[in-house]
Amino acid sequence: MELLLETIVKPLPAHLFTRHEASAEMRWEAMAGQPLLTPTDRFFVRNHTTTPTIDASTWRLRLHGDALRNELDLTYDQLKAMPAQTRETAIECAGNGRRFYGEQQHDQTPGTQWGLGAIGVARWRGVPLRYLLAQVGISPKATDLLPQGLDAPFEGYGHVRRPLPAEKAMDDVLVAYEMNGEPLPPDHGFPVRLVVPGWVGIASIKWLGDIQVATTHLSSPWNTEFYKDVRVHPPKSAFELPWNAEFTAGEPYVLRGRSWSGAGTVTRVEVSTDEGRTWREARTNPHPAWSTWQIDWTPEKRGPATLRARATDESGETQPASTPTHPFGYHFNAVVHHPIHVR
Ligand code: MTE
Repeated sequence: MELLLETIVKPLPAHLFTRHEASAEMRWEAMAGQPLLTPTDRFFVRNHTTTPTIDASTWRLRLHGDALRNELDLTYDQLKAMPAQTRETAIECAGNGRRFYGEQQHDQTPGTQWGLGAIGVARWRGVPLRYLLAQVGISPKATDLLPQGLDAPFEGYGHVRRPLPAEKAMDDVLVAYEMNGEPLPPDHGFPVRLVVPGWVGIASIKWLGDIQVATTHLSSPWNTEFYKDVRVHPPKSAFELPWNAEFTAGEPYVLRGRSWSGAGTVTRVEVSTDEGRTWREARTNPHPAWSTWQIDWTPEKRGPATLRARATDESGETQPASTPTHPFGYHFNAVVHHPIHVR
């Protein structure tokens, strides 16, 4: 019998998740009928090692470094007493869609073979990082922060940590302790995580324990070896349908999906039901976290087919037909050919 080491605390039923070693991907059909937010029970999990058990009463966040006037050891209660903000935003893994480099472009890259389910949108609540940094007297000369997680060290690389430019830290980053109105669940960073809107998921350090703030350039294996040169997510789209969804010819359907981009709100979504020959514009409800959309369709031809959705964000960027090769398989954002069958 295979010994399965449990790396994730929450239940991962097969109708909601696909397992990938220490991580779990949301099935897109699990978003059908859901409002804007991804319910916490189906939010994807990306762990380098294992979800740790952390006692909030002894937890501390240590802020230190040459760019701060004071050092600070903050308790959970002190953090929760500070002015808080709520933000609806996505967290998405840089490797989301990696599988399609192989499946669509015959260009398989190593790493977790995510479909499109390494993304979720939640309502996060916490203290703006810029507020915390102002409390400890951040110098205008600060350039980089190095937030670090309290989970077990990853292979020989030490604790998960990734430099964050001071400019982004002083903009819209949250030091979050709530997800969808509840304390953060263990798998999503309890007691406290960063939420870095629009940026690759690795920036949103879970189980946050330490932030160094420096006037010099900082680095870690998480920006020199892994997740190198990736920051803001390009536009992507997904149908709220299972892979190989079944349709009946002659029946009217409403196809639904979501599209998102780290660079701004998705304002336009087009759908093709004829292998990319023609495109029709979907009815889109624009939202900065992700835009939901729908389009009517009555399939006519029986047999296998694909559905395609193509998003354009407010910066004018549109999903391409193919994505240039990436050695680690990040940022796949070509239009995905979603296989279906019409009976
Ligand atoms: N933070 C720590 N400490 N350890 C981790 O393994 N994984 C990162 C990021 N923060 C990770 C982490 C990655 S790669 C992603 S995509 C997001 O957390 C995933 O967040 P989630 O598991 O809450 O969906």
